Amino acid sequence: MESADECANNLIVLLLEPLAIYRSLSGSHYFHTMFVFESWLSLVVTCLLTMAWWAFVFNKRQRTTPIPPCTQQIPPLLDCIRLRRSVFAKDWIYGGPPVSEGAMRRLLEAAMWAPFHGPVPPWRFVVLGRHAMIAMQQMTLAYYDTHWRSHVWSSETDEDDDDDTEDLEKSRERREAASYQRWRMKREEEITGRWGPVSYMVGIVMQRQAGSKRMDEWEEAAATACAVQNMHLQASVDPTLACYWSSWHDAARDSEEMRQFLGMGREDKCLGFFMVASCRPDLKDLRQRKVATHLKVEWRE
Ligand SMILES: Cc1cc2nc3c(=O)[nH]c(=O)nc-3n(C[C@H](O)[C@H](O)[C@H](O)COP(=O)(O)O)c2cc1C
Repeated sequence: MESADECANNLIVLLLEPLAIYRSLSGSHYFHTMFVFESWLSLVVTCLLTMAWWAFVFNKRQRTTPIPPCTQQIPPLLDCIRLRRSVFAKDWIYGGPPVSEGAMRRLLEAAMWAPFHGPVPPWRFVVLGRHAMIAMQQMTLAYYDTHWRSHVWSSETDEDDDDDTEDLEKSRERREAASYQRWRMKREEEITGRWGPVSYMVGIVMQRQAGSKRMDEWEEAAATACAVQNMHLQASVDPTLACYWSSWHDAARDSEEMRQFLGMGREDKCLGFFMVASCRPDLKDLRQRKVATHLKVEWRE
């Protein structure tokens, strides 16, 4: 056993020895230069390491920071599910305040928690704000301007088209062209009319995965639909949010032009648009769901 004095002595030597060595060597010019050089180098290295460490921690924190808890009183889950509903154009607020970017981000956060099979979630959302959604509608019109002949148009018979002498084929073409023009005019009016109050049109893209872990396409479509449902459910906690899933005009939606507009891969699919607008918070819900008509289920022992 060492005495307390011996212990204290050893401690002092331990602390002072490096200092003593440094003092005895620091007389040497070589050592001094080395030391200064080394301290600068170690300072720079320490700074770089610290910065790298903080970048790592900050990045990790950004990835893992939990979303601040919702301060709203949230009803029980089944009530939230019942509250989820599609709110269409007739109930949107025209000229009202737009849906905030924060509210939109919250919907996307909810989408992120949907289930998916495989290594990578298949959903991809393209959030179109005011300018982008007008561009998308103009792209839709431009698509039909080029391709309307290859799609079926309801060519309602115009009275003055019933000319016996006119070639039947030409008459049909004329009616179809007129029918298309009427349709087009309505769609053009909708840009500022029906779609005017929409704050965001969210392009719903199912990204087809590549590689050996490729899942069935139906699974990727189902997972993407789950993500949309999550957005819709999240919207149900804010009674001023009016959302619905629009399939959009099918030929334009499935077109090469849309693929380019939404930046989609060759095998990706656009599953329509999720419309996000505002409505009155006291909007009545007149829907009904009955087990007899809305629940096909078979129980087996
Ligand atoms: C995949 C999918 C596509 C839809 N496409 C359209 C559409 O193109 N136009 C439309 O008015 N509603 C569309 N809807 C919304 C339905 O009309 C709506 O969900 C239905 O009326 C039930 O109303 P709820 O959502 O309030 O329960 C679509 C819904 C789903 C799930």
